[in-house]
Amino acid sequence: MYLSVAYYPEHWPRTEWEKDIGLMADAGISLVRIGEFAWSLMEKQSGAFDFSWLDEVIGLLDKYGMKIILCTPTASPPPWLVEEHPDILLVQANRSKRILGSRRHYCYNNKNFHEHTVSVVRAMGKRFYNCPTVFAWHIDNEFAQEGTGKCYCQVCTENFWNWLKARYRDLDELNGKWGTIFWSQVYTKWTHIQLPINSFDETVELQPAFRNNPSHLLAFQKFTSDSYTNYLRLQIDTLRGEKISTPITTNFAEFSANEIDYYSMAKNVDIVSNDCYPDPTISDYSRQAFVYDHSRGIMGDRFWLMETTTGSMGICWARHNGPKPLPGSLRVLTYQAFARGAEVINYFRWRTCRFGAEQHEMGILDHDGIPRKRYEEIKKIGKEWGKLREELSITPQKNEVALLFSYEHLWSSRISPINPQFTYLMHLSQYHRILQQMYIGVDVIPYDRDLSGYRVVFAPFCCMVNDEIAARFAEYVKTGGTLVVTIETGMKDFEGVITDETLPGKLRRLMGVEVEHFEGLPNNEKLTVCLNVGAGQIRSSPLIWRDLLNAVEAKPVAVYENGYSQGKPAITRNTYGKGYAYYFGTICDDKFTHEFIKNVMNEKGIKPLLSAEGEGLETVKRGKYLFILNHSQENKMITLARAYEDRLTHQKLRGKIELESKGIMILAETGKLANEGMS
Ligand code: GAL
Repeated sequence: MYLSVAYYPEHWPRTEWEKDIGLMADAGISLVRIGEFAWSLMEKQSGAFDFSWLDEVIGLLDKYGMKIILCTPTASPPPWLVEEHPDILLVQANRSKRILGSRRHYCYNNKNFHEHTVSVVRAMGKRFYNCPTVFAWHIDNEFAQEGTGKCYCQVCTENFWNWLKARYRDLDELNGKWGTIFWSQVYTKWTHIQLPINSFDETVELQPAFRNNPSHLLAFQKFTSDSYTNYLRLQIDTLRGEKISTPITTNFAEFSANEIDYYSMAKNVDIVSNDCYPDPTISDYSRQAFVYDHSRGIMGDRFWLMETTTGSMGICWARHNGPKPLPGSLRVLTYQAFARGAEVINYFRWRTCRFGAEQHEMGILDHDGIPRKRYEEIKKIGKEWGKLREELSITPQKNEVALLFSYEHLWSSRISPINPQFTYLMHLSQYHRILQQMYIGVDVIPYDRDLSGYRVVFAPFCCMVNDEIAARFAEYVKTGGTLVVTIETGMKDFEGVITDETLPGKLRRLMGVEVEHFEGLPNNEKLTVCLNVGAGQIRSSPLIWRDLLNAVEAKPVAVYENGYSQGKPAITRNTYGKGYAYYFGTICDDKFTHEFIKNVMNEKGIKPLLSAEGEGLETVKRGKYLFILNHSQENKMITLARAYEDRLTHQKLRGKIELESKGIMILAETGKLANEGMS
């Protein structure tokens, strides 16, 4: 793990730089990320480059033995560039231009913008290609954030036509695949095709957007995602053209405002970076755990956390000035990210800025640059980490359970919402959260990843299925895997068109069920689903949506209890080859879903890493190390079933021990005992 920090030397007088860098070095910070918004300083007017300030910073970093993650500055095109080429401005869905005055105001397909991008990136490449202080290059900043996922300008319209021409043989094929006969939309010229207003663009009223053709919306979404990837590629190719061989990355934004297919974008970078800002005042760690598992899963074993919390996020982003982090929370959050695969942890930001939009975004230091509690906490991590770095940096995670994630499924869920209460992320994160509460490690991975190493695979809301996915799932289950699918499974093809087969379409034989009927559920539904658990039963209301199943080959596991659905299966299990295929045809509350997952885990003999419940307690296994993190505000008693050494304190531990609030243990096994447990 490398501790790193986002530093903006351009925000501070030069006389402060050495003091800042000295304090960073003293805290064990060995990397700084610089430059992502400094275009107007790097190029004061077209072609007039000045990197002398960067040379000076790099000189100081060298003096303190530190390295730099050097960012290209394209996220904030300067005023002279906008004046020279007003056409580079992003056009929003309501056809107004985004104005200069904030950031990310560019169109990612604009040729003039591309030329200026290449020019500044090439100049940086030429200047720093052999600079040994450069640890990595970083492109732009959080593509598509702040409502910039889609540009609606004329250039984008023409590029969209070209993208469609490359994807469909001819208009007949497009018309057929999109079903444009509906509402007489049959296109006879490519130029008839408009850019659709997007149903999940926050700036646009939701209702009218549902009146667009979903296949058209989906194609436009894929096109914009590809366009951003091409823009990234342009910068990477420019740097590589200048003989740069150090790793190149770009910071993703959690799940990307849901605009970019990160699986596809990530094929272009050397290492995946993601940003995530956990709330340092709460004990619920599940949101960021899901983000980290997803980030790690993109490449398989690691990622860089390119921005993370150092304090309250302030008015600009959080819309309120939150309380300061609780003592110990920055440390526990840092170790959480590391435990889940982060190799670099880059705090955002070094020092709270005196001016600009983020005046209340708390840095490690306050405006006055005086080190206080947050600095001391980071320094503590730096000191203890210095000793452990070598030992722990090469320990991968290996989990028995996978959760499949798909950007196309996510987009489809937003383009054709099944219920205003439903989101794809909410549905998947319920499974992820419950697995964490059960202390079972999970990899979040794409649909095309090899499944053979996993004993249980969850594929919630698998709404698009093609022959390849159907064949891979069948093979996985046939050879002994357990697959769990949920609502909408097999509903559509990858154009967003609903199948003419009985649902779950291509997965019907594997699941051994037919969906007789499906429906969205109103909020106040008084229905129940009943699941047998051991000698007893557990009930939940079916929420949001439900499928009524006909268990053709499969066996019912849970049933609906009321009205015309009485006795109809809500959950089924099919034996297929050596494995099981579960169909969970609704959404239930956490308690019920917990019991269901527990049954599935017990059936496979998958053991929790710890055996008792404890709110705010998290465990992660990395190689032979067991991380235990107490995010809560109370001390917790833990019963260890084995003998361990805590690598942080070198204490030998066994039996009943206490872990303080915000405490961390990194345990290496030294022997075996009985009765693992936690209370
Ligand atoms: C991130 C962004 C940073 C900064 C930060 C504030 O999304 O990349 O530049 O704005 O939010 O929390």
